[in-house]
Amino acid sequence: MRAVLFNRLFQYKRINQMKIGVPKEIKNLEGRVALTPAGARSLAEAGHDVWVEQGAGAGSGFHDADYQEAGARIGSVEDAWSRELVVKVKEPEPSEYPWLKQQLVFTYFHLAGVPRSLTETLLAQGTTAIAYETLEDKAGRLPLLAPMSAIAGNMAALVGAYYLARTQGGRGVQLGQVLGQRHGKVLVIGDGVVGSHAARSAWGLGAEVTVAGLDLPRGEQLRQEIAPGLGYVLSSPEAIGSLVKEADLVIGGVLLHGAKASFVLTEDMVSTMLPGSVIVDVSIDQGGCVETSQPTSHSDPVFVKHGVTHYCVTNMPGAYPRTSTIALTAATLPYVRRLADKGLDALREDAGFAKALNAYQGFITCRPAAEGLGLLDAYRDTKDLI
Ligand SMILES: NC(=O)c1ccc[n+]([C@@H]2O[C@H](COP(=O)([O-])OP(=O)(O)OC[C@H]3O[C@@H](n4cnc5c(N)ncnc54)[C@H](O)[C@@H]3O)[C@@H](O)[C@H]2O)c1
Repeated sequence: MRAVLFNRLFQYKRINQMKIGVPKEIKNLEGRVALTPAGARSLAEAGHDVWVEQGAGAGSGFHDADYQEAGARIGSVEDAWSRELVVKVKEPEPSEYPWLKQQLVFTYFHLAGVPRSLTETLLAQGTTAIAYETLEDKAGRLPLLAPMSAIAGNMAALVGAYYLARTQGGRGVQLGQVLGQRHGKVLVIGDGVVGSHAARSAWGLGAEVTVAGLDLPRGEQLRQEIAPGLGYVLSSPEAIGSLVKEADLVIGGVLLHGAKASFVLTEDMVSTMLPGSVIVDVSIDQGGCVETSQPTSHSDPVFVKHGVTHYCVTNMPGAYPRTSTIALTAATLPYVRRLADKGLDALREDAGFAKALNAYQGFITCRPAAEGLGLLDAYRDTKDLI
């Protein structure tokens, strides 16, 4: 009965306006917002009713008046959350769980990497969770993860360079060219969006850079795009175990779609690293690819283990909210428009969009997350539900 009513609601919504809410992000020092005023205008002009929480855009330099001028309404946190479609940036924090109900929530969820209580709440409330990070385009890429991965990848080389300073507890190696000589050894694990951006940034700073990936032709492509001198090795425990012993900075950017990251860097390997070297585990939002990683925050970003500084901030792009919000909205808006216009038909029509469905009507629909969380009993295939 519940499912029938819900589906009727979205049949109805196909020919009517969607009530859309944009809450203010509350994660530590998070300044992003899920919609720019231009995005709000596009939705409002299509006939949708857009509510933005007061001050939600301030961290990205967008004012309430900008949203009002674009046709959105400014309201309370309750106004933003009590809509049929809630659009966010980061996964709901525990203090936001009471807002979750039987509605569509379109945001990053990272269910396999965050506390299981989020999935349990989504299932208990019958929330329809549509995750940016598992949505695929026709080529199988992740178009809504890519912009944030690019920003986090760029940032990984910069924060790594910063924590290598002796004044920051590092080993005092600069990532930079000094009179034509490259200094600092950087190992980037993963050759996707994070990996390629981190490698380009570290190379641009002037370090020696090696990427560990799973595909030799990809290494050739990266050399052509970045520099002929870029190193590339096939990722294996032996190769990584040997390279980390000499690395000043290790950047982790591996991903298995929807699943908890696997530990490509074990604690034993970390214990062989140089004192004062640095690890930036960008994959931490999916649980981390380094065994010694623990999530950290912008206000307390690093800890030291085995003499190695670990930087494991789960919302790195939140440090550059203006750029991140503009890049994120450019990627998400076409999908938000389709959800608002068509409800769940937008997913029925597009198999890649349907891959974004992570929870629906009390079931978990992302198999790798269900396996990782030990919730296979509550797993259903999306095509059996919608
Ligand atoms: N911390 C943050 O704020 C933040 C921000 C953005 C992205 N991320 C995370 O960064 C991770 C990477 O994202 P992405 O967009 O680059 O993904 P991607 O799919 O573009 O790339 C992941 C790469 O990992 C490689 N890989 C998988 N297993 C490997 C292994 N054992 N060894 C070496 N490489 C391996 C794959 O071949 C792929 O190229 C994701 O978990 C993403 O959620 C974190």
